Amino acid sequence: VVYSALAVVAAYLLGSLSFAVLVSRAMGLSDPRTFGSKNPGATNVLRSGSKAAAIVTLLLDAAKGWLPVVLVRWWGAPYGLEEGTQALVGLAAFAGHLWPVFFGFKGGKGVATALGVLVGVSGWLGLATLGAWLVVVFLSRYVSLASMAAALFAPAFYLLASGPLWYADHRVAAAMGAMAALLVWRHQENIGRLVRGTESKLGQSKAKAG
Ligand code: G3P
Repeated sequence: VVYSALAVVAAYLLGSLSFAVLVSRAMGLSDPRTFGSKNPGATNVLRSGSKAAAIVTLLLDAAKGWLPVVLVRWWGAPYGLEEGTQALVGLAAFAGHLWPVFFGFKGGKGVATALGVLVGVSGWLGLATLGAWLVVVFLSRYVSLASMAAALFAPAFYLLASGPLWYADHRVAAAMGAMAALLVWRHQENIGRLVRGTESKLGQSKAKAG
C-alpha cells in the first residue's frame, strides 16, 4: 500500500508538469494559456505557429502518462504493484495534467497524456486508439472531436480485444472509462463551438478559437 501510494503521488507530480507551458517558455514562444483556445496542450501550441514545439509538447505530455504505467508494469511486481496500481498511476498522471499542482491547478484536456497511458497499458491499444483519432481528424479536421471519439473508443477497444490480445482488468477498464469521461467533460467549450460551427479546424487560422 505504501509503495502504491508513493507511486500515485509521483505520477501525479509528473503529470503536473504542463509541457505546453514549459516547452513554449523554453522555446521563447507565447504562453499557450494566453491565445487560441487558451488550452495548455499540443493543439494550442501548434497555433503559435511552431510545429516543432507542438510535437515536443505532444511527446512529453504523452510520455508523462506512459512512464508511470510502464514502470509499474515492468518493475512493480517485486513491490506488490500490479494492474490496480497501473490503473491508479495512469489516472494520477492524467489528473496531474488536468489539475497541475505547479500551475495553480489549471491544466489541459488530457488527450496526449491519456494516449500515453494507453500505450503504457498496451502498445496495441495505443495504436488502435491513435488510429481511431487519425481517422476522425482526417475526415473532420477537428482535433477536439477526434480526441473525444478516440477517448470513448479506447475502453471499448480494451474490452473487445480482451482475450486474444490481453487480459482485460476491470480496474484498468474503469480507469479508462474515468479518463474518457473527464476528457469529454474538459471539452465542453469545444463541444459548444462544434455545435455552433465555430470550432477551428486543423490547418486553419486559429486566432478565433476560444
Ligand atoms: O488537445 C486537446 C484538443 O482536443 C483540443 O484542443 O486547443 O482545440 O481546445 P483545443
